[in-house]
Parts: sequence; C-alpha cells; structure tokens
Amino acid sequence: MNDVIERILVTEEEIITRSKELGAAITQDYRSAGITPVVVGLLKGSVPFLAEIMKHIDLDIEIDFMDVSSYDGAESVGDVKINKDLDKSVKGESILLVEDIVDTGRTLKEVKKLLLYKGAAEVKIVSLLDKPSRRVIEIQADYVGFEIPNEFVVGYGLDYDQKYRNLPYIGVLKPQVYENR
Ligand code: IMP
Repeated sequence: MNDVIERILVTEEEIITRSKELGAAITQDYRSAGITPVVVGLLKGSVPFLAEIMKHIDLDIEIDFMDVSSYDGAESVGDVKINKDLDKSVKGESILLVEDIVDTGRTLKEVKKLLLYKGAAEVKIVSLLDKPSRRVIEIQADYVGFEIPNEFVVGYGLDYDQKYRNLPYIGVLKPQVYENR
C-alpha cells in the first residue's frame, strides 16, 4: 500500500465489479427508453471511473469533458466557473454526467442547471462515490458506486493537492499528510 494511505476503503476489484453492474443498468435503462446519451466527464476526478464504466455501457455513446471550479474555493456557494466547456452543443441531448464523488452536492447542482440552461433534454448523474452525510444541496445521483462515510479519500481520480489521483483504489489519507503541509 502507498505509505500515505491509512486504509483502503474500496479496492480496484470492487470498483471494476461495480462499474460492470452500473454499466449494465445504464445500458438497460437507456436502451428501454430508446435514448443514446452523451457521456460527460467532469475533469479531472472522473477520468479513471469514466474510462472504466464506459467499457460496460453497450450503447453508441459519445464522450465529452468539462472542467468547472467554484468561484470562491471549496466552501463557496453559487455559480461555477467553466475552465473548459464541452466540445459540442448539448441542445436536445440526453447527458449522463460522470463524477468522482457527490459531497455537498453544489458542483453537480450547478453543472446540471447549466446543462439544462444550454438546452440539454435531460441530465442524469453517475457517481463513483457518495458521501450523503456531507450533503448541503438536495441532489441525488441516479447511479452510485459506493456510499462512503465522512472521511477524506483519495485515489481512482480523487486528489489531495492534485496528487494521488493515480492510486488504483479509494483510500483514506493519513492525517500526517495534512499536518506536514
Ligand atoms: P461538492 O460540490 O461539494 O459535491 O464537491 C464535489 C467535489 O469535491 C468532487 O468532485 C471532488 O473534487 C471534491 N471532493 C469532495 N470530497 C472529496 C474527498 O473526500 N476527496 C477528494 N476530493 C473530494
């Protein structure tokens, strides 16, 4: 195990197994509705999960990416700033947003609002992780990989200070890593 990790919460095998289940459910739901979604990943945290789950979505999907950040840091309220917008128009499209984690819910609420404002027909959300105890905004992902307790996690796309995104599992960071800053 990487020496900055206190313990592993979700292993790589568990993520792959769950991604297969979610991919199958997504395929079935969209197929029965006769819809082909555009799969939109939020940079950078969604990248490993998007790369995994897209292999298990058996539909003619397109993928696109968006990079957003909150105006005033993590605890801010209100609009998000678009650092990178989507390549194509979302007008009339059904969007499946891919996120690493739903925490307070602020990011997803704003991105969903923005995509609907830009003319998306519908916006659904698939998130690898969900921390329901931290929710400030009432928003629920349509598909969730794992519910986790209120702990700061890294790996599989999630970072601390832009690092540890490449760990192949979800782990709790050792407190020394914060304290040594
Ligand atoms: P929200 O807008 O509060 O739901 O925040 C979502 C974003 O906060 C995620 O996309 C992550 O980038 C970040 N985040 C929330 N919790 C964690 C965590 O435990 N580890 C790493 N990043 C986190």
